[in-house]
Amino acid sequence: MINENLPKMWYGGDYNPEQWDAETWTEDDRLFKLAGIDVATINVFSWALNQPNEETYDFAWLDETIERLYKNGVYVCLGTSTAAHPAWMARKYPDVLRVDYEGRKRKFGGRHNSCPNSPTYRKYAAVMAGKLAQRYKDHPAVLIWHVANEYGGYCYCDNCAAAFRVWLEQRYGTLDAVNKAWNTRFWGHTFYDWDDIVVPNTLSEEWGGNRTNFQGISLDYRRFQSDSLLDCYKLERDELRRITPDIPVTTNLMGFYPELDYFKWAKEMDVVSWDNYPSLDTPYSFTAMAHALMRGLKGGQPFMLMEQTPGVQNWQPYNSAKRPGVMRLWSYQAVAHGADTVMFFQLRRSIGACEKYHGAVIEHVGHEHTRVFRECAELGKELQLLGDRILDARSDAKVAIIYDWENRWALELSSGPSVALNYVNEVHKYYDALYQLNIQTDIISVEEDLSKYDVVIAPVMYMVKQGFAQRVEQFVSRGGTFVTTFFSGIVNENDLVTLGGYPGELRKVMGIWAEEIDALLPGQQNQIDMKEEWGALRESYPCGILCDVIHAETAEVLAEYGTDFYKGTPVLTKNAFGEGQAYYVASSPDSQFLQGFLANLCQEQGLKPLLDTPPGVEVVERVKDGSSYLFILNHNAEEMTFDAGSANSFDLLSSRQVAGHVTIPGRDVMILERSIAAHS
Ligand code: GLA
Ligand code: ZN
Repeated sequence: MINENLPKMWYGGDYNPEQWDAETWTEDDRLFKLAGIDVATINVFSWALNQPNEETYDFAWLDETIERLYKNGVYVCLGTSTAAHPAWMARKYPDVLRVDYEGRKRKFGGRHNSCPNSPTYRKYAAVMAGKLAQRYKDHPAVLIWHVANEYGGYCYCDNCAAAFRVWLEQRYGTLDAVNKAWNTRFWGHTFYDWDDIVVPNTLSEEWGGNRTNFQGISLDYRRFQSDSLLDCYKLERDELRRITPDIPVTTNLMGFYPELDYFKWAKEMDVVSWDNYPSLDTPYSFTAMAHALMRGLKGGQPFMLMEQTPGVQNWQPYNSAKRPGVMRLWSYQAVAHGADTVMFFQLRRSIGACEKYHGAVIEHVGHEHTRVFRECAELGKELQLLGDRILDARSDAKVAIIYDWENRWALELSSGPSVALNYVNEVHKYYDALYQLNIQTDIISVEEDLSKYDVVIAPVMYMVKQGFAQRVEQFVSRGGTFVTTFFSGIVNENDLVTLGGYPGELRKVMGIWAEEIDALLPGQQNQIDMKEEWGALRESYPCGILCDVIHAETAEVLAEYGTDFYKGTPVLTKNAFGEGQAYYVASSPDSQFLQGFLANLCQEQGLKPLLDTPPGVEVVERVKDGSSYLFILNHNAEEMTFDAGSANSFDLLSSRQVAGHVTIPGRDVMILERSIAAHS
């Protein structure tokens, strides 16, 4: 449990009372109660208020707020206020200001704007965390620390450059080793002195955000900036832990956010929390996958849904209103995938600046008679009734997909073979196929213990880190099923190619050699022609983006390319290896192929779908104490019917027994509780 002082699904969100007057606070108290809100995230952007100048700290407003909320039955998720530095700091200590990708020194403005290697920022952020911890260490309202906010953005200033050189020295030891790791004899880039190394941006090696002349330095700079921001988090976290060892610490993450290696971050967090902002046309399976990733960051531990909007957003080009029922549906989708909280940005809508059109529980009209408020209040009641029933319940997936940030960076920076190759999309294709099949799937790191799973899929595993290939060999030889795809096993952790034929270190377990890599033009396709019918797979399927031209060495050929000069060569292979098997998918297939392919693999492993449901009806499972909780999420606007099986289950939300053919209204949710013995 995240904090036993509130043993239920937390309900609430970001709250900015500092933007309002006392009369409004009284109204907030009344409305929070009406909505069943029991947690408020406060003090996220209040540094300017808490420390109006270098010498003065003033927490009177915060004392008062915490007292008022707590008296009213509302706990706090306490921000450390360091997500935007105060104006006096920027004026007095310009080292807090970042230098951007174009090499321009920023001025005061925006947020999440401090240089992570600024001595001033680091010092004062840590002091702030320490002061807050001292002040509120005994206050029963404080459930959890919320450090800064949505860390992100890179800096290219001289302090960062100097820190980068130190980071490199720690990683490589000598300049010689750096020269080797980056292959600097290419284009005569040999570094003679540490100071020759400058940050990679548009003034040096990079352009366009992820185009670079030198993958080595660009890749390391991403690692370094992720580490630098993580160091800022750790400085605050250490202060908090020292003074309040029993209060958990988190910072809010952003799903597949590209810039930070969240697997590394999660190791430093007590609980993962994240902000979920899909747009109306985001595929449901993409949101599901992001939740699964957040769950996977700490090996399956429940996470916090820290933010979502109750109604609209403001920062998308078109900010559609969440349709009736959708806020509840998406809240339960988060819970289904492992969230133990449902929280919003924001509780009351601001009147000025860029978030005044961002939805809130309390809208500008100020009262409770709005659709959004009513929906929030209904959900609040429902969560109160759920109590602690599903807190801490886990996923019991037997299928996992590997996702890795460093692999993503390396791939995106790779300069060829195709700009159409998007790592997250390829991962999503596999996740989506399993999602459509109602097969519970985890998203895991390359370091995760593979032996928990029957099937492990590593789409586009371009970078093979040290020891990974051996772990895959072990997993497969003990009976596991491993899948990887085109453009895998190409480089090591420094983005240096593994010589001796692709897929490098994975060649033995895959039993193939990829001789060439062909990029297809937009609209161009090849075909996957099945050699024989295999389950639902028969005849031919389109494929594209990249086609590896491969030779089966020890692998068996299941399908061949249908056209072009490599027509008739293998595109899908299976290699028996020890007790298990490894499949190589040499191109990027369509969803029909992937669903058939993955259904076959699951069937071979005896893995059954959680239930059979019509399209748009998602099924996810959490398990706890011998009980299974099947979440049925109807994303369709219309009612749907599905077969809930013969075993009796109890729907926690409607409090009815359910069996056989069940009708679920449009955008409705069920949580079917059944004993695991009955279910299996
Ligand atoms: C992010 C931030 C919030 C707010 C919301 C608006 O998630 O953390 O402070 O800006 O976006 O959607
Ligand atoms: Zn900097």
